[in-house]
Amino acid sequence: MPELKVLFATSEVAPLVKTGGLGDVSGALPAALRAIGVDVRILVPGYRQVIAQLGRHETVATFDTLPGFPPARLLSGTMAHDVPLLVLDCPALYQRDGGPYQGASGHDWADNALRFGLLSKVAAVLGCNESPLGWRPDLVHCNDWQTGLTPAYLHFAQGAAPSILAIHNLLFQGNFPPETVNELHLPPSCFSIDGVEYYGKLSFLKAGLFYADHITTVSPNYAKEIQQEPLGFGMQGLLAMRRNKLTGILNGIDTGEWNPATDPHLAQKYSRARMTGKAANKQALQSRMGLNLEPDVPLLGVVSRLTHQKGLDLLLEIAPLLTGLPAQLVMLGTGEAQMEAAARDLSRRYPGQIGVHIGFSEDLSHQIEAGADLFVMPSRFEPCGLNQLYSQRYGTPPIIHATGGLADSVVDCTPETLKDGSASGFAFHGMTAENLYAAIQRAVGLYHDQAKWKALRKNCMAKDFSWERSAEAYRAVYLKVLGR
Ligand code: ADP
Ligand code: GLC
Repeated sequence: MPELKVLFATSEVAPLVKTGGLGDVSGALPAALRAIGVDVRILVPGYRQVIAQLGRHETVATFDTLPGFPPARLLSGTMAHDVPLLVLDCPALYQRDGGPYQGASGHDWADNALRFGLLSKVAAVLGCNESPLGWRPDLVHCNDWQTGLTPAYLHFAQGAAPSILAIHNLLFQGNFPPETVNELHLPPSCFSIDGVEYYGKLSFLKAGLFYADHITTVSPNYAKEIQQEPLGFGMQGLLAMRRNKLTGILNGIDTGEWNPATDPHLAQKYSRARMTGKAANKQALQSRMGLNLEPDVPLLGVVSRLTHQKGLDLLLEIAPLLTGLPAQLVMLGTGEAQMEAAARDLSRRYPGQIGVHIGFSEDLSHQIEAGADLFVMPSRFEPCGLNQLYSQRYGTPPIIHATGGLADSVVDCTPETLKDGSASGFAFHGMTAENLYAAIQRAVGLYHDQAKWKALRKNCMAKDFSWERSAEAYRAVYLKVLGR
């Protein structure tokens, strides 16, 4: 079989730049694909932090005449596991302080249409026969709205590779004023319901969903949920129409990065065979977060963006009840100002019992996965979710709202599932604070039953969430699209 060549276009890739799960996936999936023989190369914008960490590289292409865009060039470097990395260097668009999507003030960059229009455009140029690289992918794998225009550009180009669009979160759509169609040099005819138009705007995401040869999303359950209201966020009709071209593939995790037996961030390493080390991590976490050093009080952990999606408003609402259970809580996150303030306020009101860190901290996120007894993830919707996968691997059963990838990856603890060895966490149905609280009570009840608790944690740690299986599933999609 000829080697399969794939261009993986993404707006973030860990460890160079990450705001959430897309960064993790882009850091790990290409490596897993290479391990099964797919020649995959990553394309990412040259944000300041990416260029700064790039190391040895060479310029492999220049783009001086892309209509509508400032001059840019392509730098070629290498990621871990020898994954080739193509960095789109365009100082006018990417060399600035702040995040990939927003400035320090928390507002979207005003020129995001141009910034991600260029990323989409260059991915498409590389996906055509006259690719300046001398390497033309068989297929372009796009991710979320930031590369949603690639399938559209490819559709209107000559000698173009087919494309897939992977949906990581349908809430973010990249919708811009209609005149953007001309600014980005898309053919005016594509501004229609059978094209990129979405309620009078140009939608990058809609463009991808409409023109991609295949659509994937990051869990089987979410693939079903988005074909209906409310989780289709307006795209449900199109997705239902294209359901034969829509595949849900559960994300894996980077088992090298997330391994309690080797994790350098931990106070003490531990494994399924030697779980006792977890206690030292709990104590270290309590100490770091200013909590009372209580080995026998269950400690709940949260690592999350603090946004409406994540449902943590419910947890904040019932947090005062936790101390009576008793249970402790640690939270790490950034996001909406109001939620950050509410979390900070709780930690002030319940010193020693609730600890909050507002910020982004890689090492603390590992320490919470390891040191907490239970991990809380009450998301309103969750395309896949990675933290519940990490927490199971760290023997920290998750408490989840039964939605999207959370429902696909956590087995609710019942007498039956405990007996057959499948139980791995606590699920609640119905997005209310009462239901969340009932699940927490159930979890805390089991925590005090030592034999069952140990069995549950062992189940969690035995689960296999490695990328290999998912990488095989992506390859199968690629081959299907290519008719091979
Ligand atoms: P999403 O992509 O919707 O935010 P995921 O669960 O898929 O949710 O992935 C979130 C990723 O971002 C995880 O790797 C998580 O550990 C990380 N993360 C989120 N918030 C923080 C934070 N404040 N500090 C460190 N890591 C964080
Ligand atoms: C998105 C989703 C999250 C998913 C991640 C990676 O950010 O919100 O559920 O795990 O993408 O696919």
